[in-house]
Amino acid sequence: MIPAELPKRTALTFDEIMSTTTSPDTQFRAARWQGDHAGYLELIDQTLLPTTFKIIECRTVEEVWEAIKKLRVRGAPAIGIAAAYGVCLGLQTVPADAEEDDTDFFARLKEVAEYLATSRPTAVNLFWALDRMQRKAESLRGSTSLLDLKEQLLTEAKTIESEDQAMCEAMGQAGAELMPAGGGILTHCNTGGLATAAYGTALSVIYFAHKNGKGIQVFADETRPLLQGARLTMWELQQWKIPSTLICDSMAAQVMKEGKIQAVITGADRIAANGDSANKIGTYGLAVLAKAHNIPFYIAAPSSTFDLSLASGDQIPIEERASEEITCGYGKQTAPDDVQVYNPAFDVTPAELIQAIICEHGVIDPVTTDNIAKVLGK
Ligand code: MRU
Repeated sequence: MIPAELPKRTALTFDEIMSTTTSPDTQFRAARWQGDHAGYLELIDQTLLPTTFKIIECRTVEEVWEAIKKLRVRGAPAIGIAAAYGVCLGLQTVPADAEEDDTDFFARLKEVAEYLATSRPTAVNLFWALDRMQRKAESLRGSTSLLDLKEQLLTEAKTIESEDQAMCEAMGQAGAELMPAGGGILTHCNTGGLATAAYGTALSVIYFAHKNGKGIQVFADETRPLLQGARLTMWELQQWKIPSTLICDSMAAQVMKEGKIQAVITGADRIAANGDSANKIGTYGLAVLAKAHNIPFYIAAPSSTFDLSLASGDQIPIEERASEEITCGYGKQTAPDDVQVYNPAFDVTPAELIQAIICEHGVIDPVTTDNIAKVLGK
């Protein structure tokens, strides 16, 4: 049962958001649990931004799966957080009074985790969070009641969320040191509070560089085809009052040539053991351009984004999305009927193009297998 006193929120106007939210500390959360183990998950529906701010309520694991698949919640760490809460929702169908036998509970846990794992393939944070939830449950198996297991799994999901916020803050502080004073910083996709528990990955670095008085100017790629840069990054940068300029993806080379960019920084969805990094489609091109213009290219990502089981980026699964995202973006047909389309959502930037990876444990520079293992403490 959902407690009656839980607050109901309706859509806020853009102006209401802008007047209440000026920093990542006070920003609305991409994913937030309401209530106890019988509660529900609130998500900002990111597909509606920047024109509509609407919080949706997920009360079933199927609704969480759909929200991840459709990018209502997106960004590697936020996907992991939503999936962890999705596990809690999935377990609500198991009665907690069947104390003497936990078979149904653990069968459902496996089913729910396997189901959520099919929502999107590239961001490893999804699988990392699902593994962590399953390991937590296994560690408690046989030593407590099913009711307590449900509560402890909810606590684990909340811990994943709060740890992510702390990691993002740490990355922001460490990475800000690397940002050139008075420089232009180019970023791609959305890596802010919307993509994480709070602060963001690359956008956290940008936030702290700004806060620490570096006097930076941000350039944000619009990020075709789903426009996470235009719709979401510019929305967050505006709230944080950071000087920023939107460009089309195809303008990056020219803007670099004009001398407006002194550093490029993005997030990542999965980083292989050798540092090859998958991120939003277009990132690899930016890294090549940065190299050609002698501009440092950085990645900011928490340890939950590293997949040390993969030796190189060649093994990272790349999501392919529907052709309509390219031919009919946001309801406007922009290509003839029946054209052949290729729509990979991510690409892999080779480690040699990355100046440094910033994670919560510090700065990995140079980006080598040994250095990654050392900084991650593996
Ligand atoms: O398809 P999306 O919007 O989930 O892609 C997100 C990105 O590519 C981000 O750059 C990435 O998750 C890292 S930052 C949180």
